[in-house]
Amino acid sequence: MKKSVAIVTGAAGDIGRAIAGRLADDHEVVVLADIDGDAAETVARDLGAQECFVAIACDVTDAASVASMAATAGSLGAVRTLVNNAGAARAVSLHDTTPEIWRMDNALNLEAAFLCFRAVEDMLKESRGSVVNIASVNGMNVFGHPAYSAAKAGLLHLTRLIAVEYGKFGIRANAVAPGTVRTQAWEARAAANPQVFEEAKRWYPLQRIVNPEDVANAVQFLAGPLASAISGVCLPVDCGLTAGQAELARTFSQSSHY
Ligand SMILES: NC(=O)c1ccc[n+]([C@@H]2O[C@H](COP(=O)([O-])OP(=O)(O)OC[C@H]3O[C@@H](n4cnc5c(N)ncnc54)[C@H](O)[C@@H]3O)[C@@H](O)[C@H]2O)c1
Repeated sequence: MKKSVAIVTGAAGDIGRAIAGRLADDHEVVVLADIDGDAAETVARDLGAQECFVAIACDVTDAASVASMAATAGSLGAVRTLVNNAGAARAVSLHDTTPEIWRMDNALNLEAAFLCFRAVEDMLKESRGSVVNIASVNGMNVFGHPAYSAAKAGLLHLTRLIAVEYGKFGIRANAVAPGTVRTQAWEARAAANPQVFEEAKRWYPLQRIVNPEDVANAVQFLAGPLASAISGVCLPVDCGLTAGQAELARTFSQSSHY
């Protein structure tokens, strides 16, 4: 029996780290693939046993790097789960978006997921495994960061494309769309405005933002046997953000119940 392997890209980041830790509950090996190989090593060491957490330096926008990461992952056992988590946003508005930024954001947030999937597709067929794409509420509504958001919207469609074309092989594909999660990705905004998270909470029906563990729990569910009949969906993990805003409902309805 081969060991079951999960691959988490961008696993040196806060959400990726939480996902890697959670997936170790039901995979024997978790590959932490990140462009920052040293940071991935540190996270792998922090998470625990060396034989369980394996760091691999990988640029997910580079097909050769992805192919080499996939081959190493395949040598460790049967790849059952791919989590496309690496992602980042660069420009905040269309006005600030250069063609180069547009292309870079699409390469990292959309094309990389395609490259990673194609690199492990045969292994997922063998294991009847699944893909979980980490999208964003930005792929569902307009919240700024246009190139990133368009790529995340594309990632939601890639999820459905995989689900429909590869369902016959037993491969499932789903997405998770987190709302605001306090991670390294927010450092510059938090430095510019230390109140940014307090201000954000106001828009969330649950009046809190999301934790990396909230995202990791959803990924574990979608990757696991409890979700064996679920494919092609996007699960928002957004404290209710995409359901609507109480403040707007109060204005529209003039009801104090909101
Ligand atoms: N933080 C949020 O509020 C939030 C909200 C919605 C969705 N997300 C999504 O969650 C995912 C993780 O975000 P995070 O907040 O943990 O970010 P983060 O910046 O903490 O981590 C991202 C990780 O990706 C790695 N990475 C960047 N480029 C890479 C490349 N080319 N190849 C391989 N690795 C690369 C980085 O080194 C980093 O370790 C992203 O896809 C992001 O879009 C985050």
